[in-house]
Amino acid sequence: MDTVKKINEILVSLFNSVLKMEERALQDSTSVNLSITEIHTLEAIGAGKPKTMTQVAGALKISVGTLTVAISKLVKKGYVERSRVSEDRRIVKIWLTEQGKATVEEHQRFHEAMVRDAISELTEEDAIRFMQSIETINQFFLMQKTKHLKSNDSLELKPINLGELKIPVPIFQGGMGIGVSMSRLAGAVANCGGVGVISGAQSGYSEPDFEKSTVEANIRALKRNIKEALAAVAGNSEAGPIGVNIMCAQKNYEEYVTASIEAGAQIIISGAGLPTALPGISKTENVKLIPIVSSARATGLIIKNWGKKHNRVPDAVIFEGPLAGGHLGFKEEQLDLAQENFYKTITEIKAELQDLPNCPLIVGGGIFNKADALKAMSYGADAVQMGTRFVTTEECDAPMEFKQAYLNCQEQDILIIKSPVGMPGRAIKNSFSNKVSNEGQKEPIKKCNGCLIPCNPAEAPYCITDALVRAARGDADKGLVFCGANAYKCDKIERVEDIFEEFMAGN
Ligand SMILES: Cc1cc2nc3c(=O)[nH]c(=O)nc-3n(C[C@H](O)[C@H](O)[C@H](O)COP(=O)(O)O)c2cc1C
Repeated sequence: MDTVKKINEILVSLFNSVLKMEERALQDSTSVNLSITEIHTLEAIGAGKPKTMTQVAGALKISVGTLTVAISKLVKKGYVERSRVSEDRRIVKIWLTEQGKATVEEHQRFHEAMVRDAISELTEEDAIRFMQSIETINQFFLMQKTKHLKSNDSLELKPINLGELKIPVPIFQGGMGIGVSMSRLAGAVANCGGVGVISGAQSGYSEPDFEKSTVEANIRALKRNIKEALAAVAGNSEAGPIGVNIMCAQKNYEEYVTASIEAGAQIIISGAGLPTALPGISKTENVKLIPIVSSARATGLIIKNWGKKHNRVPDAVIFEGPLAGGHLGFKEEQLDLAQENFYKTITEIKAELQDLPNCPLIVGGGIFNKADALKAMSYGADAVQMGTRFVTTEECDAPMEFKQAYLNCQEQDILIIKSPVGMPGRAIKNSFSNKVSNEGQKEPIKKCNGCLIPCNPAEAPYCITDALVRAARGDADKGLVFCGANAYKCDKIERVEDIFEEFMAGN
């Protein structure tokens, strides 16, 4: 038997049969006077909160003009309502009427009944096997959606937009705490056209009252750093934006996000968990919101959650792979497999973003040179995020001792350590890492600095804030020196400008 031919026949026949059954069910229905396309438009609007025309057009992959014609008919038929947003009359929102909701529910019931009937002859085991096989085929087609992937010779670092926010060079500098990426580094990166990101992790570590009034010191320093970075790019029309990285596992998360927006941050980037609360805190559409994810599943969850709860889509998504620095989004035992699947995961996440109107994918973790960036882009990245490469720059806010630890380290000096908050972290081997890993010694916590929610100071082997602050104050031996897997490749102190020139050469 020619298996390929047979599978092709089955797929084509299945597709046509399902379409015909849908059409017949609609014709038989006395209450519904809609075409299949109209039903699918209702499904894209969904029963949740009102959506903008752009959101629905993006999900259906049609132009807003085409959608406007379709919506006018659906409004007339009584399935959809629409209205202009009072604060911005250019935006039209649409939602389902009760009749529209009932129709979508009926259509979903029809689909479920159809599948139940179709598999009724199969045993439970066969049904599961069938589901797994068909899911493999489905994944293949999802991946094909990303096969428009650019061929190598068409690759270049092109400007991208987050809505109206322009990013002339598609390079994000990763937020690096504690004290590694503050106003100086962020300002320098933005001045070169990339996205400069200030770390919102214990940003007040060098304030005189940090020990006594940690949150106040952090907010004061965070606001000051944002203003300094914005001042550094003022008047440069080719500059990129200034963002802040605030981990959603941070205590006082809401206060830090609010303070950042008040100080003028243009982008809020949040990882270390799913930032489900972020759109509810930021409220304004002027500040761009970017979640950091480690899988296509997490991407799907955040899109669903933000859409349902906040009627908002991410302005971009950052996928951070397992070669990154700092806390990692994978369990230690998952790291090798996650790295094997790194490029596959890029294509899977890209497929999740296909239906959103404009949501660039930024990829980080192990991007060190232009070839790394172009390779990620050939799999679907629109921009890259780099942390490690920016540490050994003149402008990086970390002390020289911290940068020197990067310059001195060999590949075998880079290890995975257990952070008190449960996630693994990547760092440079030193007296501190020996003490808490090999020797299993604890550093009793005298005072909790209130940094990350998952930490229990009574049980934690050390205080992560104290360890990172020691490194940020120049003790690169007794402090925790976070780094990416490529830190051993850093062999000189360079200027941010040199890195951008290298990446833009031949573009
Ligand atoms: C020293 C250092 C500190 C970091 N701190 C944070 C942090 O506080 N929050 C965060 O989300 N990511 C943090 N990261 C991750 C970076 O933002 C970046 O995404 C990642 O390091 C990219 O991989 P690369 O270092 O291989 O370029 C840190 C990375 C480094 C090297």
